[in-house]
Amino acid sequence: MRRPLPLFILVLAAVLLVCVIGQFSDKNNERRLPGATTPASGPAAAPAPATPAGVAAASAAVSGSASATTPEAALASTSGYAALRARGAYLARASDCMACHTRRGGAAYAGGRSIATPFGELISPNLTPDRQTGIGNWSADDFWRALHNGVSKDGRLLYPAFPYTNYTRMPRADADALFAYLQSLPAVNAPNAPHQLRFPYDQQIMLAAWRAIYFRPGSFQPDPQRSAAWNRGAYLVQGPAHCSACHSPRNWLGASEGETLAGALLPMQGWYAPSLTAPQEGGVQQWPTARIVQLLQTGRSGDAGVSGPMAEVVSRSLQHLDAADLGAMAEYLQSLPVSATPAPATPDNSPATRNMLAAGEQLYGRHCADCHGAKGQGQAPAYPALAGNRAVTMLHSVNAVHSVLHGGFAPATAGNPRPYSMPPFGPVLSDTEVAQVLSFVRSAWGNQAAPVSASEVNRYRTVPLD
Ligand code: HEC
Ligand code: HEC
Ligand code: HEC
Repeated sequence: MRRPLPLFILVLAAVLLVCVIGQFSDKNNERRLPGATTPASGPAAAPAPATPAGVAAASAAVSGSASATTPEAALASTSGYAALRARGAYLARASDCMACHTRRGGAAYAGGRSIATPFGELISPNLTPDRQTGIGNWSADDFWRALHNGVSKDGRLLYPAFPYTNYTRMPRADADALFAYLQSLPAVNAPNAPHQLRFPYDQQIMLAAWRAIYFRPGSFQPDPQRSAAWNRGAYLVQGPAHCSACHSPRNWLGASEGETLAGALLPMQGWYAPSLTAPQEGGVQQWPTARIVQLLQTGRSGDAGVSGPMAEVVSRSLQHLDAADLGAMAEYLQSLPVSATPAPATPDNSPATRNMLAAGEQLYGRHCADCHGAKGQGQAPAYPALAGNRAVTMLHSVNAVHSVLHGGFAPATAGNPRPYSMPPFGPVLSDTEVAQVLSFVRSAWGNQAAPVSASEVNRYRTVPLD
């Protein structure tokens, strides 16, 4: 029996078709964007930003540079070129380009790292100036189009696992500095490997539809009501440092909710990037600026410490930023709206729960109290308190499960060169025991969080290694 195709599917298909045609016929999407810079065409054209003066001035302020030098102009003087490259190197740190574009044990920026997504695996391309396999024959315009519009040199639409949805906010001058830096690296001959995406996600037409709905090339919009430092911080967080790539929730098509920073599970890594608007999760609104700077720079501050994917962000990127930039980011993070506090879990006094917590208390005494203290008070500065520790009491318990199963490793940074770490208990404790000890820790000494189940622990027992 055949049913007529519902009208809304037809309408949806028509709308998608129009969007998709729009993507292919107007790859740069600039038409929707008054005031965006237009990539110069033709090999000889200097990449002069066609930005209105006001925006140009504002973007110079946010990019921390007084003048927007073109690479050609800068090349005229060797010291100008060196300065441009140095700025590019700094921006590459702030943007953590190396993280994704370097294979474990491979040459820096030569690509080949596999990035797991719910839609399959993407293999990062080679960004070194090798002419056959890297971006050695790219122009500054080609590079700008990739960073700003998410389009490769050959016109191929790029997947947003490359966070161009954030990088699009970088002004042309910053893109040119990055390009000058990448072009100065040693060329590495490393052919790009094909992505391993599942049908239909491997189809450019799907990506075109996705982009039509979710992506507009843009620019950072400074807020004139705010200080220069706040604007610089907002620019760094929203643009190069792409914090929202992890900290903002994504929908079922992998599109980020924008700059909400409301917290998100990282599906492939099995970590939770806490909400930066919730002080009971990762929010730092009530912290003094110096403490935020210390956390971002050294990976630890008091009982708060970063681990997992955030430890990598600190060690590869944030610790290399200068204090003024970290202070600017801190000022912006302090200003994020505070989200509502959820009600604490209602204590469950059933005999089954009481037995489980008693078993957890025993395990705690045997395995944990030496470091974290009999009352969860910790031992500063080596071992964090677990009493009143938001990393322990957060609604999502996955990060605590990770620490216990796989150990806790703070990053080694210049400001904290020999961090204390926590041994992995995965080989020693069963899923049930991990659940018991964590349920105990989450509800003892004034902590009021819901218990953890053994099946939840089991889900995170095996973790992808890269
Ligand atoms: C979170 C991981 C990630 C980060 C961070 C990242 N990239 Fe990428 N990048 C990718 C992936 C994956 C691709 C491949 C996308 C595709 O082929 O559709 C890519 C593609 C590219 C391309 C296109 C290359 C080509 O041959 O088409 C360029 C250029 C690029 N990235 C530059 C950068 C720069 C510059 C930075 C830092 C400012 C950066 N990337 C940061 C993951 C990342
Ligand atoms: C690759 C994913 C990723 C990126 C990018 C990322 N974070 Fe995180 N972040 C996490 C995860 C996962 C955690 C939870 C683990 C932890 O607490 O260290 C976290 C934790 C945090 C915390 C709470 C730390 C604590 O101990 O209370 C803060 C604050 C934070 N991130 C800020 C930022 C800022 C600011 C940026 C951008 C500069 C950023 N993050 C970029 C994944 C990420
Ligand atoms: C050898 C000392 C040691 C022992 C034993 C130990 N821990 Fe830890 N634990 C640490 C250190 C150090 C950290 C901080 C690591 C980091 O920054 O990632 C930590 C972090 C944690 C965290 C994350 C808190 C945070 O602020 O990020 C939890 C949860 C935790 N431990 C629970 C336990 C439990 C439960 C046990 C017993 C099964 C235990 N620990 C045993 C040293 C220890």
